[in-house]
Amino acid sequence: MYRMFRPWYINDRLFWFSSKYKQQTKCLKVLHGFTEKIIAERKRYHESTGGRYLNFENEAEDNDTIGSRKKRLAMLDLMIAASNNNQMSDSDIREEVDTFMFEGHDTVSMALTFTILLLTEHKDVQDRVRNEVNAVMEENGGKLTMTALQNLPYLERCLKETMRLYPSVYLITRKLAENVMLREQLIIIAYYIVFVSYRFCIIAKILTRRTSQV
Ligand code: HEM
Repeated sequence: MYRMFRPWYINDRLFWFSSKYKQQTKCLKVLHGFTEKIIAERKRYHESTGGRYLNFENEAEDNDTIGSRKKRLAMLDLMIAASNNNQMSDSDIREEVDTFMFEGHDTVSMALTFTILLLTEHKDVQDRVRNEVNAVMEENGGKLTMTALQNLPYLERCLKETMRLYPSVYLITRKLAENVMLREQLIIIAYYIVFVSYRFCIIAKILTRRTSQV
C-alpha cells in the first residue's frame, strides 16, 4: 500500500533507495519462508507415502460435507502432482500458494469484520440472521453442513450488502496491451487502468481522453 500510493516508487530502481525496500525484503523473506515450509512439508509427506495420495483414485471422498461425490485433489496436492510431471516449478507453486493464502485470508477477514460491525449496528438485522441460523441448525440436528450453509439466504444477502458497502477488494488494476474504444468518442490509452469499487464503480478518468483530441 505504501508503494501503491507513491507512484514514483513503482520504479524498482527508485524504490531500492527507499528505507521501505529493506523492510519489504525482510517481510518477503518471512512470507516466502512460511510458504516454502508448507510446500516442503507436503512434499515430504508425499515422498514418505510413496505418492499414494497424489492419485485421484485414492483421494478420500467427502460427500458428507460437500454434498457431492466428486473425487478431487486438494489445490496444493494438485500442484505437487503437476510439478512431479515437470509442469510446474517450485517457484510457480509458491506464487500460487501465496496468492491463495493471502487473497483468501485478507478478503474474508475484511468481509467478516465489516459484517460483524454492521450487525452490531443493526440489531433488528442481527436478530433475523440469528433466527435464520438457529432454524437451519435445528433442521440439521445442530450441525452446519455445506448443504445447510447454502440455505441461509438472508445471511447471504447481509454478506453481499456488506461487501457492496465495504468491498474487500476495492481496486482492480489491469495493464492494457492496446488502446480500447469505449462508446464512440471515449478512448482509453493503453496503460494501467483502475476500477474502483468503493460504493460506486467508475473507470478512472485519468489516462482517458476524447478521440477528438487524439
Ligand atoms: C470475500 C472474499 C473474496 C473477495 C471479495 C475476493 C475478490 C477477488 C477479486 C476482486 C479478484 C480479482 C482481482 C483481479 O482480477 O485483479 C480475486 C482474485 C483471486 N482470488 Fe479472491 N476474493 C475473495 C476470497 C478469496 C478466497 C477465499 C480465495 C482462496 C482461498 C481467493 C483466491 C483468489 C485468487 C487465487 C485470485 C486470482 C485469480 C486469478 O489469477 O485470476 N479469493 N479475488
